[in-house]
Amino acid sequence: MIKVIVCKDYEEVSDKAAEIMLDVVKSNPKAVLGLATGSSPIGLYQRMIKDHQENNTSYAEITTFNLDEYVGLNPDHPQSYHTFMHENLFNHLDIKKENVNLPSVLGDDMQANCDAYNELLSKYSINLQLLGIGSNGHLAFNEPGTPFDSVTQVVDLVESTIQDNARFFDYDLSKVPTQSITMGIENIMEAEKILLIASGKNKAEAIYQTVKGEVSTDWPASILQRHQDVTVVVDEEAASLL
Ligand code: GLP
Repeated sequence: MIKVIVCKDYEEVSDKAAEIMLDVVKSNPKAVLGLATGSSPIGLYQRMIKDHQENNTSYAEITTFNLDEYVGLNPDHPQSYHTFMHENLFNHLDIKKENVNLPSVLGDDMQANCDAYNELLSKYSINLQLLGIGSNGHLAFNEPGTPFDSVTQVVDLVESTIQDNARFFDYDLSKVPTQSITMGIENIMEAEKILLIASGKNKAEAIYQTVKGEVSTDWPASILQRHQDVTVVVDEEAASLL
């Protein structure tokens, strides 16, 4: 059963998501967090930073795992997820560098990078997994058709995702990476608790399929119906087809 919380707008979505996230961090200072990129979590990350600054909530013992990273972008590339996470969150918290994990896309052997990330993930249990959702229902970069038992792997991004992401690359499609390393759906489903956030009309169909659609690889996020603790926090536009 997916619990759905409908909020007025993006600000309220971020407030509610922060409440859920901070509840986990404050009740377990050693929590393992699964984190996501994209525009959706930015408001939540701002609230985590504000809370850290104002209330001294500590991340010194927190471990994080990010969902994915673009193949072909070095960590210091302005649009890498490594850069995104450091600029939007990690640089502003007291988290230890060695406790921050993102899939590595360095070197020539991407399969070895995937295996290493899976191996590392297998040693931890994620307490709270944060997710955004693609307009086509993808989770991380697990595009439609991805088997539900997938683990960390290299994937090709589909055309609609490349177009959705073009806004971060000056709308120049030739600059948008076409592959990524992504945690698999099975890795995501292993989290103790899942928090998915979405806002805006272009997510309405994906949210409908996730919450009320048939569980099908056509809409990867629909698998969340089989998880025991999922909260979906959406604004009115994203909830408009529910
Ligand atoms: C990318 C990320 C996903 C994210 C999605 C939606 O594809 N790999 O993890 O959920 O974008 O992004 P946004 O929140 O910007 O709509």
